[in-house]
Amino acid sequence: MEFGDIERVAVLGAGSMGHGIAEVTAVAGYSVVLRDVEQELVDSGYEDIEWSLEKLAEKDRIDESPGDVLARIETAVDLDEAVAEADLVIEAAPERMELKKELYAELDELAPPEAILASNTSSLSITEIASATGREEQVVGTHFFNPPVKMDLVEVIYGAETTDETAEAAYEFVESIGKTPIYVRKDVNGFVVNSVLGPFGDEAAWMVSGGEATIRQADAAMVHGRGYPMGPFELSDMTGIDIGYHVRKEAGREVPPIVKEKVEADELGRKTGKGYYDYEDGDGPDYEPGDGEGFDALRVEARMVNEAAKLVGDDVATPEAIDTGMRLGAGFPKGPCRRADEEGLDRVLEKLRELHEATSEDRYEPAAHLVELVEAGKTGEDAGAGFFDYGGGGGERDYTTIEHELGDDGLLEIVLDRPERLNALNQDLMEEVVHLLEHTPVEDVRCVTFEGSGDRAFSAGADITGFSGIDPHEVDVTPVFTTVDEYPRPTLAKIDGYCLGGGHELALACDMRVATESSEFGFPEISLGLLPGGGGTQRTIRMLGEPRAKELVLRGNRISAARAEEWGLINRAVPEEEFEDVIEEFVADLVDGPPIAMKLAKQVMNDGADDDLDAGLRMESQAFGMLLTTDDMMEGAAAFMEDREPEFEGN
Ligand code: COA
Repeated sequence: MEFGDIERVAVLGAGSMGHGIAEVTAVAGYSVVLRDVEQELVDSGYEDIEWSLEKLAEKDRIDESPGDVLARIETAVDLDEAVAEADLVIEAAPERMELKKELYAELDELAPPEAILASNTSSLSITEIASATGREEQVVGTHFFNPPVKMDLVEVIYGAETTDETAEAAYEFVESIGKTPIYVRKDVNGFVVNSVLGPFGDEAAWMVSGGEATIRQADAAMVHGRGYPMGPFELSDMTGIDIGYHVRKEAGREVPPIVKEKVEADELGRKTGKGYYDYEDGDGPDYEPGDGEGFDALRVEARMVNEAAKLVGDDVATPEAIDTGMRLGAGFPKGPCRRADEEGLDRVLEKLRELHEATSEDRYEPAAHLVELVEAGKTGEDAGAGFFDYGGGGGERDYTTIEHELGDDGLLEIVLDRPERLNALNQDLMEEVVHLLEHTPVEDVRCVTFEGSGDRAFSAGADITGFSGIDPHEVDVTPVFTTVDEYPRPTLAKIDGYCLGGGHELALACDMRVATESSEFGFPEISLGLLPGGGGTQRTIRMLGEPRAKELVLRGNRISAARAEEWGLINRAVPEEEFEDVIEEFVADLVDGPPIAMKLAKQVMNDGADDDLDAGLRMESQAFGMLLTTDDMMEGAAAFMEDREPEFEGN
């Protein structure tokens, strides 16, 4: 079965995962059968979908009415009826191997012979599940995250016999429903995300058990110092302390005493009202930002990096896949491989060795791949290469927060690629944009466009999660805005969705802005006790005049694309369906235009705007004189006489 042949999808299990998977699949346009073992369960899953679709419609997150989506979802109790015509079966049944094997044996009989069978298991072996069928090469893991409607990540897992064709079809299917797949090329316990996440809670628990840290200290340090969305203990209270306990038991790993104590006392976290924090008599996690002082965060992170290195070394996943997985699946502010490259892999290795020597515990034993990288001098960003290449190894630099493509026509398209944070700008992203613009030969570029990934935002501003723990001396926000502003080729911001704060400033640093009508513009900085720090106060007052600029900056409210157009903040506000066409028209003019003339025109306009009229006119006249000697000018004039389109070469 190839991806292109998938039309009908059966989802087995109508619980929290199953109904969510059915919903996102139907939203993407597939016809879906939702099946569970009792009518009551199916009905309840169906109602959950109805409720969720209403929410999505309220927030304008679906293009159709909930009714139109529901019309594509059938329900069933009978397995045969559910899967008889399915091209893809996604199983989200309870996590018990025996039950799954029975189900797959039946599925093998009932589903069309070419159908792909995909399991949403988060903890069981795909290989073993597949062994219950006579089509092991057509069984694959598709591990969604909870809740599927919100979470963008799906791990696509190979069982021992899974063919590339099957895995690729699953991968493309995941993309087609608007989710981000990562390949997990071997069927390892915990796959990628849970493998790397394991030490986050585990190491913190060992440290607390050993009296080397307190619960509040660990949580405060990881959240406020290192930017994780939740502390390890807070997270464990949320998922259930017993879950981590059983995972360790099953994997034959030792359980930290503090975890054992909690499980024995039946204090399992939120669900029992008490865990590491008190949710009945207290307010749950009650750590303060300052509590994290003195916590050895590197110890926790080194173990996660070690886990990542094992996965890379064993060819289970690439550093890109791991980092994407941790950002999207666990809400990490940055992938562990990228972070380790920043920290220095030699420091990470040293930390592990130190702990290994002191305790002889297996969990600190450095992964062979980590040792190899360090021994090869690939110790991270400063060395020019680590998990990723930073251009030091002679190769092209890997970017982790942007995507880019340079077309033969000279169009350089840059995508801000942090959809899980609405493309918020962090230091990496800003540096990567600068690096890309500085290292792409300018003679190959005729025009640059910027856009946001995902369908919600151009960019929601500077990354707020990175604010705490920042040293004011390290803050240098201007380079990216200056680089874009002064770039010697025309630049265009393609805005679809939120365009706020630093993202708004990036758009303003571009020469032109085209936006969909549903886009929104604003400077929310003031509500954070800040002011726009990337040119937002200065560019707006020059562009819009005082009343409008001050309204934007001082009130901090968002304005619609229509108002932004009326104010002259953007060039066009266009209906969604015309967006790409309008962009194409802009781009066509810009890539075909005369590069030198555009460069000088841009330069004298930028510089002249900050100068008095006489000075501006002098600059203009000089530039005009210079252009009279260019080949492009000859070509322009000749083409006019010959009544044809000019072909500018930039000479
Ligand atoms: N920095 C870091 N993360 C951000 C972010 C930012 N500037 N803006 C949004 N995000 C994250 C959210 O934390 C959320 O992550 P989560 O799913 O892990 O919780 C995700 O992006 C989606 O945003 P969410 O707030 O759930 O979407 P929404 O539709 O409810 O609201 C906004 C959208 C843009 C109105 C809201 O996110 C917002 O106000 N963001 C901050 C904007 C800002 O102040 N920017 C200026 C910074 S100087």
